[in-house]
Amino acid sequence: MEEMKKTGFPENFLWGSASAAYQIEGGYLDGGKGMTNWDTFVRIPGKTYKETTGDVAVDHYHRYKEDIALMAEMGLKTYRFSIAWARIYPQGTGDINEEGITFYQNIIDECLKYGIEPMVTIYHWDLPQALVDAYGGWESPQIISDYVNYAKTLFRYYGNKVKYWITMNEQNIFTSLGWLTAQHPPGKFDDQKMFYQVNHHAFMAHAKAVLAYREMGGTGLIGASFAYTPSYALDCRPENAMAKYNYDDLKNFWWMDVYAYGRYPKAAMAYLKEKGIAPVMQDGDQELLKQAAAAISFMGVNYYQSCVCEYNPMDGVTPYGTMNTTGVKGSAQEIGIPGIYNNPANPYLKTTDWDWSIDPDGLRYCCREITSRYALPIIISENGLGAFDQKTEENEIHDDYRIHYLKEHIRALEEAVTEGCEVLAYCTWSFTDLLSWLNGYQKRYGFVYVDREEADGGSMNRYKKDSFYWYQKVIQNNGL
Ligand code: BG6
Repeated sequence: MEEMKKTGFPENFLWGSASAAYQIEGGYLDGGKGMTNWDTFVRIPGKTYKETTGDVAVDHYHRYKEDIALMAEMGLKTYRFSIAWARIYPQGTGDINEEGITFYQNIIDECLKYGIEPMVTIYHWDLPQALVDAYGGWESPQIISDYVNYAKTLFRYYGNKVKYWITMNEQNIFTSLGWLTAQHPPGKFDDQKMFYQVNHHAFMAHAKAVLAYREMGGTGLIGASFAYTPSYALDCRPENAMAKYNYDDLKNFWWMDVYAYGRYPKAAMAYLKEKGIAPVMQDGDQELLKQAAAAISFMGVNYYQSCVCEYNPMDGVTPYGTMNTTGVKGSAQEIGIPGIYNNPANPYLKTTDWDWSIDPDGLRYCCREITSRYALPIIISENGLGAFDQKTEENEIHDDYRIHYLKEHIRALEEAVTEGCEVLAYCTWSFTDLLSWLNGYQKRYGFVYVDREEADGGSMNRYKKDSFYWYQKVIQNNGL
């Protein structure tokens, strides 16, 4: 009998796909939901691509059964989604909105009905506006107890059914875009001191939620998801090697070291102190961060691209170069920190239409680094290709470029697994097409095409892309 072929992926590997509430749900005023920072922000002219909003998004709020049935048809093992804080607590705190509780209970039950493991993101960027109005949201330490109260509510209602919890989605991104580049709410520009303070509050919220989960007897897996952009030195010039090191300390380890070790990287902290922008910590914070680090179960990684580091002179590029939000290739500007590093293009890699480098081996690099540095299991909580998809007259979508992208990334991930990295799950971004925060609906990521335009309207009908059938086979063959 011919020997069965095997992949490096373990038998119980979780093949999944991901989404976020604001990007799919719509129904922004339905079911007793409160307003959020994003509901407010998208109404400021010029903030999003062609003024797109998530008011209707892809109407998942009303079509979740259809979407989850498609996930079941595909054979998905896990579905990662986020809960909108303002559906649970319309005012961020205070009275619970039972309709919101029921909505997510239904989603969880619908997943379990098909044997799909629900993986819940507690916070994926949509913050109740009431908390912004009351005390400036993440800018105040008051947010910590409100976040923990919200997280505990989720553990209490859903903890018996949900075994995978992600406290924060890409804390590094929502804070950078919120307080440095002004592209996300609250739209602050170059407020470096507040940026680090806000991050400290988010770390404390994460840490206290992790500890609360354990105190409540939670036996599932819990951790944060980090947007990990691994770096390569431009060449072997020592100053470029040092630029890479500084980049890693400031842009990667600043977050991952806190999640995994409960401490900030020393050199980066010394640099911030010298500049007078280090976060203010309270007595006991350090200890709590350490306790939480010992209690997390995995490092969540959202991986899209790698970068190159080169020494950046004092009069060099800033972090505020134009971002490509239109899909016009080549419109992104180089960024960096004067005196530290800049990120030139990698001549060995192709890029997407939004100027993101395509580097499957970067995913392997992430897994290897996390394994060596933190010895933690890994959940790939996002990976995918944003592209212009075309639906034919026969309602087919031939997204061979997406299949190629995912295939190469899964190949690299398998190498990492074979090399000893403990990878628990791989979630593509995304299952259906959805709203890209700054790039509108034209930047599509899904296995399922959703018929809608930038402005609200369109049939909202779902169509399976070629990649849908391809990933179905990947799952059937456990990655082979
Ligand atoms: C991550 C986020 O940054 O990347 C998602 O967690 C986001 O919410 C995804 O949509 C892709 O980014 P973009 O900008 O192409 O939508």
